[in-house]
Amino acid sequence: MSGLVSPELSDYAEKLMRGRHATRAFRPEAVPADTMRAIFSLAGTAPSNSNAQPWRVEVVSGARRARLADALQAAHAEQRTSVDFPYSEAMYGPVHQERRAAFGAGLYGALGIGPDDDAARAAYDAESLRFYGAPHAAFLFVTGDGGALLAADVGAYMQTLLLAMAAYGVDSCPQGLLSFYADTIRTELGVTEGKLLVGVSFGYADESAPVNRVTTERAALETTTAFHV
Ligand SMILES: Cc1cc2nc3c(=O)[nH]c(=O)nc-3n(C[C@H](O)[C@H](O)[C@H](O)COP(=O)(O)O)c2cc1C
Repeated sequence: MSGLVSPELSDYAEKLMRGRHATRAFRPEAVPADTMRAIFSLAGTAPSNSNAQPWRVEVVSGARRARLADALQAAHAEQRTSVDFPYSEAMYGPVHQERRAAFGAGLYGALGIGPDDDAARAAYDAESLRFYGAPHAAFLFVTGDGGALLAADVGAYMQTLLLAMAAYGVDSCPQGLLSFYADTIRTELGVTEGKLLVGVSFGYADESAPVNRVTTERAALETTTAFHV
């Protein structure tokens, strides 16, 4: 970067970053293969500690995607969960819990699911294992020791990927829930290396679906960021 301010670039970045949203209903049309290659090539520009690039990315489409969705449904029905990165509600602090509750109220409200309807929420989450109808899903694995620092690099890759998709007009939803079925995904895709951090469903949004009009807020800048001089 030269340090010169480019209004076109900053305007574009504002639109790109503020315009990306999690999409939870997709049309069936596939993303063209050349667009897919351009997106994943761009995602690979993500920074990483010492440029180690500790990500391994598996992209599924077509018949393989359909088989994997079935396998995930079966694993869910049989309660065969397996995580590479242990998850606990206890990792969230009170302020996180408040934000999560506000998000959940907005999402399930848009779906017409009441706050106490645990069965309907669970059914919706289970159905999301079909990638919200997206024609493609990418699975991001952390290679090396799969520890926190390397996982952070793969997190940077994920956001670069989401923005690359947005730049190419491709909609996406990162789905941590998919990582609860790490062994199923590994087996179906023949993956032998890495820990599964997250899955990303992607394709083109079904703009008519009310769930795609859910909006999310962000904490005010001052609550997360301090400028020291
Ligand atoms: C690591 C990660 C995991 C997520 N897991 C899920 C998930 O399992 N299911 C889902 O519907 N959304 C999931 N999301 C999407 C978040 O709910 C969403 O990014 C957040 O509410 C902010 O909304 P926005 O992306 O539309 O700005 C996940 C996002 C991230 C970054």
